[in-house]
Amino acid sequence: MKITNSDILHLGQNKNPPTFQIDPFFLPHFPSMPGLQSIRKRATLRVVSISAILFFVCLAFLHIVFSGTGSSLFYNRNNTYHYEQPALRHPNPNLKAAFVTFTKADTESLFKLRSTIRDLEDRFNHAHQYPYVIFSNEGLSAEFKELVSSSTRHNVLFEHLNATYYGYPDTIDMARANKARQQMKDIIFGDSDDYRFQARFMAGLIFRHPAMADLDYYWRFEIGTKYLTPITSDPFQYMHENEKKLSFIFALYEYHETIPTLYSAVQRYMNDYPGHTIHQTEQDTLWPFMIDPNTESYNNCHFWSNFQIADLSFFKGPAYQAFFDHIDRTGGIFYERWGDPVIHTMAAAVLLRKSQIHYWETIGYQVADQFVHCPVEKSLYKSGICRPIANFDHQGYSCLPKFLE
Ligand SMILES: *[C@@H]1O[C@H](CO)[C@@H](O)[C@H](O)[C@H]1NC(C)=O
Ligand SMILES: *[C@@H]1O[C@H](CO)[C@@H](O)[C@H](O)[C@H]1NC(C)=O
Repeated sequence: MKITNSDILHLGQNKNPPTFQIDPFFLPHFPSMPGLQSIRKRATLRVVSISAILFFVCLAFLHIVFSGTGSSLFYNRNNTYHYEQPALRHPNPNLKAAFVTFTKADTESLFKLRSTIRDLEDRFNHAHQYPYVIFSNEGLSAEFKELVSSSTRHNVLFEHLNATYYGYPDTIDMARANKARQQMKDIIFGDSDDYRFQARFMAGLIFRHPAMADLDYYWRFEIGTKYLTPITSDPFQYMHENEKKLSFIFALYEYHETIPTLYSAVQRYMNDYPGHTIHQTEQDTLWPFMIDPNTESYNNCHFWSNFQIADLSFFKGPAYQAFFDHIDRTGGIFYERWGDPVIHTMAAAVLLRKSQIHYWETIGYQVADQFVHCPVEKSLYKSGICRPIANFDHQGYSCLPKFLE
């Protein structure tokens, strides 16, 4: 008897409609004929080798075609990435603001910079078009510049820092600075020149740089940091309308070994300029956040500055610049390891009212793995990627509770 496809399909239930189907493709598997296995193996081998040959022929063809145009399938063959520095363009002439950061030239920095720019664009800037200003002491390749500036549709400017902005000032005793670095090699960045050059630039010199001249506000960001939730209103606008000068997300303790004489240097400044500085006995000051009531000394609390939105009239103004010059002249950046976050925070205590400082509860933000801030507002964390319970703000190392007191 000859078995047909339809017999198989209706196997054992000729009278009823079929409840299952066997794909006719499987039919040849039913009879097991001797020799069939090896025939099948040889056929498979032939198909695989012919496909492989065809694949490589196609690849070679495409390669030849594309290499003529300068961009091969695999890499940019003519190796001419292209970037031309645009002029700084302000989407809102009444609010001249930009994202500002510092980078090194290596590929890891390139990756981190691009991913943070993507976050900023996706979470906020796609709707606002603020430009970016990117400083580096290293020569950035055309590839670096083109890849970074193509991460956003908005203006990206690169600014090279020479030794005036990034290096030792003439006044530093190099032997003393070298000795300090050796003695501090067990503290994070303790033996680093680069940390100190960046700290000095970010603490004060940046505000004298020509690239900052045309800006009223900046949003300082750090490469590799993450923005976790949508930013639904314009923080620059908020700062402007509410007359805020400085803002932060994380507040935490500095290692005391890095700043043993910072507070006494600040006290000297206050004694020298009593009429121009804000004292602990006054109202609406940052001092209760920073002074330990028992020891009456600095409790090492400060605002982290890897995220910082600021009104640049504060940092560029004569009061802050004089304060920075005083700090810079002491040499504490090099003889100890004063960072820009503690310098900025000390200046805020000496020169600003607490009501001029804003804490951004509403911005989801992450530094490295362990420093997470997630807003409590459900609509924000719902459309973001963070868990409020992971908040660093609740941990013992955070100073935020002191600021909110
Ligand atoms: C390389 O590519 C750039 C743009 O992609 C083009 O302007 C330039 O003329 C090309 N150079 C050569 C030598 O083909
Ligand atoms: C660095 O550049 C500035 C201008 O941007 C200039 O005034 C200064 O002399 C330069 N410093 C060095 C060491 O070249």
